[in-house]
Amino acid sequence: MRIAALASGTGSILDALVAEHLPIAVVVVDRTCNAAVVAERAGIPVERLVRTEFGPSFDRDAYTAELVDILVRHGADLVVMAGFGTVLGKAVHDAFDGRILNTHPALLPAFKGWHAVEEALAAGVKVTGCTVHVATLAVDEGEILAQEAVDVLPDDTVTSLHERIKAVERRIYPEAIRHAIAQLENGERIS
Ligand code: GRF
Repeated sequence: MRIAALASGTGSILDALVAEHLPIAVVVVDRTCNAAVVAERAGIPVERLVRTEFGPSFDRDAYTAELVDILVRHGADLVVMAGFGTVLGKAVHDAFDGRILNTHPALLPAFKGWHAVEEALAAGVKVTGCTVHVATLAVDEGEILAQEAVDVLPDDTVTSLHERIKAVERRIYPEAIRHAIAQLENGERIS
């Protein structure tokens, strides 16, 4: 089983996957980020598919096609997003249908999108959490595989709340990935 991990941020979720000895064959980053350092420190090959455009001129399909080439070249069986900041196009979902996982810092279907923690805090919810799900072309949709609630505390900031959510993600994401690997090895679909 060969996992490709996609990351853009501090790489703390990636670090938890590495610590659990998941078979990560390659880490792909879309920008300069600490996640690449985490991968290198672990001796995992890093592919830098750096994104130069962030506005309407971004060619999502061309970027996705290049990413699929990288994933295929590394023989990926399973793709796991660990804080990846680029929404990918259809080609990757065609190539890895039902085999792309994501972790999201909210209890989906609430608070989809990149600002989930800020929005949960702004909404005044007392409980939020995290969700591991199958990634689909529609962002933060797809079958839910695991969820866990996290209480919002009266003095929480975005940083403090996100850090407590990430502590849970670091525990439930590796478990969900192991479960997914077992399903793939049994010829089952991830569910
Ligand atoms: C996680 O909360 C993940 O759910 C979100 O981005 C964060 C990544 O954290 N998509 P890190 O960069 O691994 O610390």
